[in-house]
Order: sequence, then structure tokens, then C-alpha cells
Amino acid sequence: KRPAGAPDKSLARKVTKVGIIGAGLMASQFALLFVRRLQVPVVITDLDQARVDKGLAYITDEIGKLEQKGRIDGDEANRLRALVSGTTDKADFADCDWVIEAVFEDLAVKQQVFADVEQYVSETAVLATNTSSLSVEQIGANLAHPERVVGFHFFNPVAVMPLLEIVKAPATDDETLATAFAVAAKLRKSAVLTADAPGFVVNRLLAKVMGEAARAVDEGTPVPVVEKALAPIGLPMGPFELIDLVGWAVAAHVQDTMMREFPDRFYASENMHVLSKLGEVVEKDKNGKVVDLTK
Ligand code: CAA
Repeated sequence: KRPAGAPDKSLARKVTKVGIIGAGLMASQFALLFVRRLQVPVVITDLDQARVDKGLAYITDEIGKLEQKGRIDGDEANRLRALVSGTTDKADFADCDWVIEAVFEDLAVKQQVFADVEQYVSETAVLATNTSSLSVEQIGANLAHPERVVGFHFFNPVAVMPLLEIVKAPATDDETLATAFAVAAKLRKSAVLTADAPGFVVNRLLAKVMGEAARAVDEGTPVPVVEKALAPIGLPMGPFELIDLVGWAVAAHVQDTMMREFPDRFYASENMHVLSKLGEVVEKDKNGKVVDLTK
């Protein structure tokens, strides 16, 4: 059955090579998922070779774990490893027809990486962004072909969470959208089409839960008590365990975006920027910079 709002499947373009911008944890999880489910070459890139190598090592390890668990056999493991490569040269993205970015949540950074890659890829290559709360329209605004930009928002842990938010910006064309839905189906994710509104659907709600949990701590209730109080509700994780899972920096970034966009509905908690179930309060280094203990 066609998901609500998805264009006709026949408009979807074939994806024969995937490019992933970023080689951090989220990006490496994408690489593993794309290579396993699409069975096409996947190339990852980052700022330097050390980062690329770290990403490749993670992917190789995870393929090994899948083999150990008996999910794939040795031949499949070798085939998947051979399909994944790393590069620091975006020219290696030239023949990618699907590019997804998972770089730092900063509008200018995301605009820049797409502007760079647009110089190499074909006019119809899809540029998908995994932004968790920025405007997809703005991410594509300065491109020559913004109609091929689409939001493709995964949830952590990528391998496990079934949902994918596909975000249509005003410029996104039907071919791009149909390709995004076809890719989601191949990845075996359950895709929903959301408007290009701050936080889309899921983070908008999660930011409220996390923000209110942080406010409860501001008002004097300790972190473990908030977690324990919520446990009987049946959430898979308490709000602070979830902050640890996504990383406090990402959680705080989503919160900041929501506060900026909806100042009447979201409000600041000083703790939102430093809370962690693991450390209760994240440490600051000697320069006063917050150190993420969850990484
Ligand atoms: N990374 C990778 N795989 C993981 C994992 C992790 N952090 N945690 C669990 N898994 C895998 C396990 O390896 C296991 O895989 P196999 O079946 O292959 O062995 C599988 O998941 C099940 O593991 P568990 O038995 O430990 O599962 P669980 O019942 O404890 O559930 C969970 C774990 C699925 C993470 C569950 O706690 C959950 O759903 N938590 C909520 C997660 C959530 O809400 N995520 C959204 C965050 S918001 C976001 O990501 C968006 C954003 O932009 C900020």
C-alpha cells in the first residue's frame, strides 16, 4: 500500500551507488544499513582520512557481528565489505545517485556540504538530509537543483528503530519523493511523510518530553527519580537514558531549535545542555567547554 502522500512508485529513480557525507556514528550506521539492504556500492566521506578510517572500522566490525550472530553468511559479509569504501575526495561521489548527509546540525555546514557535492553529482542525484530539526527548504535553498533535496530522518539506533520521517520541502519534486519512499522500503523502514516544520513530528514531541524532564530537575527532583517515576508509563527508555542514546549535544540542539521557532511553547532549561543519566551533569573541561560523557 502506498504511504499517505507518497507519489506514484513508477516515478522513483534507480539507486546504483550511495554516497554518505559524514563518517561519525550515525553516518556509519547508515552505511551499514544501505549496503546491507540496497546491495550497491556505498562510499563514505569526512573531513579527514582518520575520521573516514574510524567509520570504515566501525562498519567492518558491525558486518563481523552480523556474521557472528548468523544473520549473514561469510560470503555475504565479504561482499558487503567489498561494497563499502571511504574517500576524502568528493569527486568519488560523481556517480552516486543517492547522497545522504549526517554532518553536524548546523544550517551553514549542511548547506556547504550539499553545495560542494552538487558540483560533482548529476542533476538528478537525490540529496537527502538527516537533519533532526532544521528546515529542509533552507538546507537546499542555495543549490542549483533544490528539487532533489529531501529530508530523510532516521532514529537512533538506526538498525533497530523502524520509523523514517521523509520530509518534503516546497521545492522537492515527485521523482525525488518517490525515490525516497522506494529507498525507505528497501531499507525496510516504515516511512511517513511530514511537513517541513521545525522538529518534524517526532522530535517536536520528544523535545517537549525531554525539556519537561529537565525542568523537573531544575525544580529539584533528581534525575534518577524522574526516570523512575516515568518507568510505569511503559516508555522503552526514560527521557535521560534517551538523551544519553542520542547524545546530549543533539538533544540540546533540537531543544534550541524548538525554542527559537516556538518561543511561546518551548522554554529554556539550563540543565538541558548538561544533563545525562550517566553522569547526571556532564563535566566541563578546563576551558569551561562541556564534555560529552556519553560519547
Ligand atoms: N545500537 C545498535 N543496536 C542496538 C542498540 C544500539 N544502541 N541498542 C539495542 N540494539 C540492538 C541490539 O543489538 C539487538 O539486536 P539483535 O536483535 O540483532 O541482537 C536489538 O537492538 C534489541 O536489543 P535489546 O534486546 O537490548 O532491546 P531493548 O528491548 O532493550 O530495546 C531499544 C532497545 C530498541 C533501543 C529500546 O530501548 C528503544 O526503543 N528505546 C527508545 C529509542 C528511541 O526512542 N529512539 C529515538 C531517539 S530520537 C532520535 O534518534 C531522533 C533524533 O533526531 C534525535
